[in-house]
Amino acid sequence: MSALRLLRPTVAAALKPTIPRRYVSAFGYTQAKALIFNDYGAPKDVLKLHRHSISPAYGDEIIIRFLAAPINPADINQIEGVYPSKPAFTITLGTPSPAAVPGNEGVVEVVGVGANVKNFKPGDRAIMKHTAFGTWRTHAVAKDENLLKIPEEYKELNVISAATISVNPCTAYRMLKDFTPLQPGDWFIQNGANSGVGRAAIQLGRIWGLKSINVVRDRPEIEELKEELKGLGADVVVTEEELADRQFRKDLKEFTGGKPPMLGLNCVGGKATTELIRQLGEGGHVVTYGAMARQPVTLSASSLIFRDVHAHGFWVSRWSDKNPEKKKEMVEEIFGLIKKGEFKDVPIEKTVWKNDTKEEELKAAVEKSGQAFGGKKQVFVFEE
Ligand SMILES: NC(=O)c1ccc[n+]([C@@H]2O[C@H](COP(=O)([O-])OP(=O)(O)OC[C@H]3O[C@@H](n4cnc5c(N)ncnc54)[C@H](OP(=O)(O)O)[C@@H]3O)[C@@H](O)[C@H]2O)c1
Repeated sequence: MSALRLLRPTVAAALKPTIPRRYVSAFGYTQAKALIFNDYGAPKDVLKLHRHSISPAYGDEIIIRFLAAPINPADINQIEGVYPSKPAFTITLGTPSPAAVPGNEGVVEVVGVGANVKNFKPGDRAIMKHTAFGTWRTHAVAKDENLLKIPEEYKELNVISAATISVNPCTAYRMLKDFTPLQPGDWFIQNGANSGVGRAAIQLGRIWGLKSINVVRDRPEIEELKEELKGLGADVVVTEEELADRQFRKDLKEFTGGKPPMLGLNCVGGKATTELIRQLGEGGHVVTYGAMARQPVTLSASSLIFRDVHAHGFWVSRWSDKNPEKKKEMVEEIFGLIKKGEFKDVPIEKTVWKNDTKEEELKAAVEKSGQAFGGKKQVFVFEE
């Protein structure tokens, strides 16, 4: 008789890994699947679905089951080989040549722990502590240092919130806090305002009493998008063309009561960024965190000399690696806002990843994520 069967049924149930039985062989091996790539390139050309098995947790190993993992622009850049943080190419998944698993963000459930694991038990939930772990897979072997445990009080929040908390909301949070002190009633301006980061900045701004000017690209349903962002707390929403209009600069003075924005958040580049910088007040700060238009940021000599504009870059991966404790506090604070209903998830389109989901369906979701005016964040949601 196994040791588990000698325990009272409730205790035995609590100790049992919650791994779905279909994935576990008679010898305790987990049948796992992962999207992998052996070489950098366009996701449609290089991604493959790979099947492998994971042996039972040993020593300090933690076997995790993914619950949800988003497809972010950085993930695509990483597969293309143009992102600074590179995933490890190894043969640990039994591939004939070294391969890496894409995906930087995700939420997992612990399904098995080795004897030396102190901080995790089966049933715990966690998000990834660092980028480049490889989250587009059903299961993986992790170590304590790879995971940030979700406190019990937030464990039951929906998996989409947890899967998308560590990159975009944290980026918005830091950029609003760390570059120039803003007081309630102060304005900031941002482009790409309907992105995951943009929506997070609008909401955090609203919660902290800041006012926001939000720039988006024009589209047939622009009025719906403007209303949607205002519903999150945006004060002003304009298209790139409206921002470039001379009349707008006059209107802006009226909106802001002559108090120009002192912080600009930029994820676009090119002309859209030049226009954003033009709106900043003397001594203002522009923080570049993305380059969606794949064009350089041009800062005019007059902006630097006469308006004393300060230019910065921000990368949440570097910040998180340097500030693990602050990252934990920030994530918990955002979980708290989500629980209170003050902070909403980005609109998502989910691709359910089951044991029999085909490679083409998974790759189609990745393709969709790169489409212009996509509107919704693509997320893999793993189901038994
Ligand atoms: N530095 C960091 O630490 C950090 C952290 C998180 C994210 N990021 C970066 O932030 C950016 C947004 O990420 P996300 O996950 O929030 O994005 P997302 O939710 O996938 O949204 C992408 C955004 O980019 C806009 N966009 C796409 N192509 C564009 C173009 N050519 N010109 C202007 N806008 C364009 C989209 O607008 P439409 O609706 O008009 O297509 C949408 O607003 C990305 O560049 C990402 O790499 C950086």
